[in-house]
Amino acid sequence: MQLKQALASAVERLDAADVGSPRMNAEVLLLFVIGADRAYLYAHPERELTSEEAARYEEVLAQRATGMPSQYITGHQEFWGLDFVVSPAVLIPRPETEHLVEAVLELARGVQRPKLVDVGTGSGCIALALAHELPDAEVYAVDLSAEALEIARANAARLQLDKRVRFLQCNVLDPVWEKTPDVIPSEDFSPSRGTCCSEFRDFDFVVSNPPYVAFSEADKVQKSVREFEPTMAVFAGLHGIDVIVPLVEQAHLALKPGGWLALEMGYSMREEVVNLLSPTMWEDIRVVPDLQGIPRVVAARKQ
Ligand SMILES: C[S@@+](CC[C@H](N)C(=O)[O-])C[C@H]1O[C@@H](n2cnc3c(N)ncnc32)[C@H](O)[C@@H]1O
Repeated sequence: MQLKQALASAVERLDAADVGSPRMNAEVLLLFVIGADRAYLYAHPERELTSEEAARYEEVLAQRATGMPSQYITGHQEFWGLDFVVSPAVLIPRPETEHLVEAVLELARGVQRPKLVDVGTGSGCIALALAHELPDAEVYAVDLSAEALEIARANAARLQLDKRVRFLQCNVLDPVWEKTPDVIPSEDFSPSRGTCCSEFRDFDFVVSNPPYVAFSEADKVQKSVREFEPTMAVFAGLHGIDVIVPLVEQAHLALKPGGWLALEMGYSMREEVVNLLSPTMWEDIRVVPDLQGIPRVVAARKQ
C-alpha cells in the first residue's frame, strides 16, 4: 500500500472511532512508523509501505482508536521548543503550561542565581525549560511519583541538563519540615551536600502545575485524560485543592522573603486560590490569563 492510501484509510478509521483531528493523528502516527518528517510524506506520497511498517501502522492505529493519546504511542511531546519523552506515568505537557514558564521568566529577570523548585515535575517540562532558559539558576524538581521522576531524569539527561537539576521524591514540599519521615532522598541528595531540610529553604521561586481537578468534576474531563493520564497527575481530592492547600502553606516556609510562588490553576479556581494567599503573608498577587482569557497562572510574593 502507498503512503497516501494508508493515510486516507487511517483518517477514515480514526474518524469512525471518534478520534478528534483524525487527519493530524493519522499523519503523526504514520510519520512515527516510517521514521520520517512531513516534508518526506508530501514529497513521496506514492512510496510503498513495507510489510513491517504496514503491520506497525495497523497496531498504533488500533491503540489510537481506543482513545490512547498519540503522545503515549510515539513517546514524545514538544514543550517550550524542547523534545520531551513521555509515558503513561506522566502528564503530557500542555501548551498552556508555557504561560507559567513565561511568568516565572518575567519575574526572574534581574535575579542573580535564582534558586527554584518545581513541585509535581512530572516529565520535568517546567523545571527543564526553566533550567534551559536560566543558565545560572539552581533548580530542584520534586514529585511524589517515582515513575514520573524516572522520566524527568531521562529528559534531563537527553537535554543535557542533568547536572543542573536535582530531583527528589517527596510529598509536595515536605522536606521543608524538619525530620520529615516520608522523604526518600534521591542519589542527588548526598549527606555531604547537607540535609534535604536545610536545602529546602531560601528559594527565590516555588513553581508548580499541581493536580487540580476535583473528583466531583471527573465527568467534565476529556475521556482520554480520565482513562489514560495518571490519576494523581490530574485529580486532587473531592474539590481539586488537596495539593494546592499544602503547597501554599509549605511554599511560604520554603521561600525567602520576597520570593515568588507561581502556580497553574484550573479555569474556575481563581477566587479559591487567591483566598488561600493570606494578605498578612503574601503580597503583589498577580493572575495571568491564557490565550482564551481564562485565569491560568497565579503568582504571589512572600512578604
Ligand atoms: C498536573 S501534573 C504536572 C506535571 C508537569 N509539571 C507538567 O506541567 O506537565 C502534576 C504532577 O504532580 C505530581 N503530584 C501529585 N500529587 C503530588 C504530591 N502530593 N506531591 C508531589 N507531587 C505530586 C504528579 O505525580 C504529577 O507528576
